[in-house]
Parts: sequence; C-alpha cells; structure tokens
Amino acid sequence: MPGATFEIRPALDGDRRPLAALFATVAEERDGIATEPPVDVEARAASWTLDGTFVALADGEVIGSLHLERSRFGFAELGMTVAREWRGRGVGSALMAAAIGWAREQGLHKVSLSVFPHNAAAIALYRKFGFVEEGRRVRQFRRASGELWDAIDMGLLL
Ligand SMILES: CC(C)(COP(=O)(O)OP(=O)(O)OC[C@H]1O[C@@H](n2cnc3c(N)ncnc32)[C@H](O)[C@@H]1OP(=O)(O)O)[C@@H](O)C(=O)NCCC(=O)NCCS
Repeated sequence: MPGATFEIRPALDGDRRPLAALFATVAEERDGIATEPPVDVEARAASWTLDGTFVALADGEVIGSLHLERSRFGFAELGMTVAREWRGRGVGSALMAAAIGWAREQGLHKVSLSVFPHNAAAIALYRKFGFVEEGRRVRQFRRASGELWDAIDMGLLL
C-alpha cells in the first residue's frame, strides 16, 4: 500500500465511474451494504448524486466514499463504503468528519442511517461519532440468498 496516505474532498463529475465501481465491488461482498450484485456500473455512475458526496483518494484512486442524501425535512440519509484493503486505517472516520461538517454548514439538523446488526466496524464508527440506536427493523431486507436481515436505525442530532 504505497504511502498509505489519503485525502478527502467533495466528489467531482470525473469521480462518477470510480464511485460506481467501488460501490459494485463492495456490493459483491454481500455483507455490509444492502445492494447485492449485479450492479449496472454505467447507470449508477450516471445517476450518482454528487451533492453531498465525499470521496477518499489515495494516489489519485477513489478508495472510499460517503453520500448524504438530503431530504426536504432537515435530515439526510447516510451511506458509505471504503475499499476492503483500506479499512481500519481511518478512512471512514475522515469521510464521516467531513460529512458531518458539511451537514452542519448546510443547516441540516440530523443524519440518519440503517446498518445491519452484524456490521461491527460500521456500528463502532457510527457510535464513535455520536450516533445512537433508534430502533430495529425486523427481517427488513430480503437477501439474494433468501435470508431476511434485520436493520438497526441510527441517528445523530447535529
Ligand atoms: C464501515 C466502514 C465504512 C468503516 O470504514 P473504515 O475506514 O474501516 O473505518 P475507520 O478505520 O475510520 O474505523 C472507525 C472505527 O471503527 C472501529 N472499527 C474499525 N474496524 C473495525 C472492526 N473490524 N471491528 C470493530 N470495530 C472496528 C474502530 O474502533 C475505529 O475507531 P478508532 O479510529 O477509534 O479505532 C468500512 O468497514 C466499509 O466500507 N465496510 C463495507 C461497507 C459498509 O459496511 N458500509 C456501511 C454500511 S451501513
């Protein structure tokens, strides 16, 4: 892992395809995010909402992303992915710090998210930033395997 340094910045138009490619790679894990393969990378790249998206870059490559989907009601829904080989190195934390700062600047009052109960790394990251558990959706997500997974809702008041 050359240098092992990274930077965070708001997403630009040229990030669309790498953002979609990273998303598709993480979807293949069938573990942390709700989406499972197949992912139409070109369609996802074209439809990606850049407003509220932050990217982590290392050597010019997108190695992480976080998106805040702003609602009309003062809250935003968070989704994030970090490339597997970069996890546990502070990339997710740096993305989260940037996103929370942006959300406050935008005058949002809350960030919300859903996370699978087995996703210990994500839950630890969210708790570290002050997110609290607000409820559990039982057997909410039907997986391609046929399993029904719970989801924990978490929120951070800004
Ligand atoms: C969840 C995810 C974004 C975290 O990103 P990351 O870059 O690994 O996060 P960080 O390195 O900043 O770690 C954040 C905290 O989580 C904790 N943590 C990290 N990996 C962990 C693990 N495997 N188990 C338990 N806690 C862990 C650490 O305590 C760390 O806090 P610290 O800085 O005080 O040590 C990343 O694991 C990921 O992309 N997973 C797959 C996609 C996914 O699950 N997305 C979230 C869907 S809700």
